[in-house]
Amino acid sequence: MQINPDLFTRFDPLGGTIEGAPQIERRLSDMRGAFADEDAFNAALAQGDPVLYTLAAVAPAHGDGALHYAIAQIAPGRIGAEYYMTKGHYHAWRPAAEVYIGLSGTGFMLLEEEESHESRLLPLTPNAIVYVPGHTAHRTINTGEIPLTYLGIYPAAAGHDYGSIATENFRKILVAVNGEPTLVDR
Ligand SMILES: [Fe+2]
Repeated sequence: MQINPDLFTRFDPLGGTIEGAPQIERRLSDMRGAFADEDAFNAALAQGDPVLYTLAAVAPAHGDGALHYAIAQIAPGRIGAEYYMTKGHYHAWRPAAEVYIGLSGTGFMLLEEEESHESRLLPLTPNAIVYVPGHTAHRTINTGEIPLTYLGIYPAAAGHDYGSIATENFRKILVAVNGEPTLVDR
């Protein structure tokens, strides 16, 4: 049976790949300013420039009503006490929401509402679904010992705004305190 590749694909929940979708790498050097402990960041970068996470996105269609989706995988590790994480972003089209589904590993999503700056920390694990409302910056964090892999589904029109959150940064950070993930002020 011939299946339209726009309508069907397969993914690897452990490898973080989608058949036919190119994988984008984000390295430590791409994350300057994201981690709170700048000395720890510079010390880590002096040791090498590891891949912190990968992204594979599929854009089957465009325009009103269409959906895009992506699988991301974050490596385990920390910069100082702060766990490896994504840059985080708003959607360029602020009302656009997103659904995240955990596939493997253990982590969290950190949400920050744009107007109120209210922060929320939600677990992201296999069998967990996180709904990210519009107007909310979102970042994913790996607190486990193995890669954290998840699927995100979002409106095709959402777009990514990395600049606003990079300038303002998240007001909370997730750090290891006695080995336990703990949300503290930046
Ligand atoms: Fe998003």
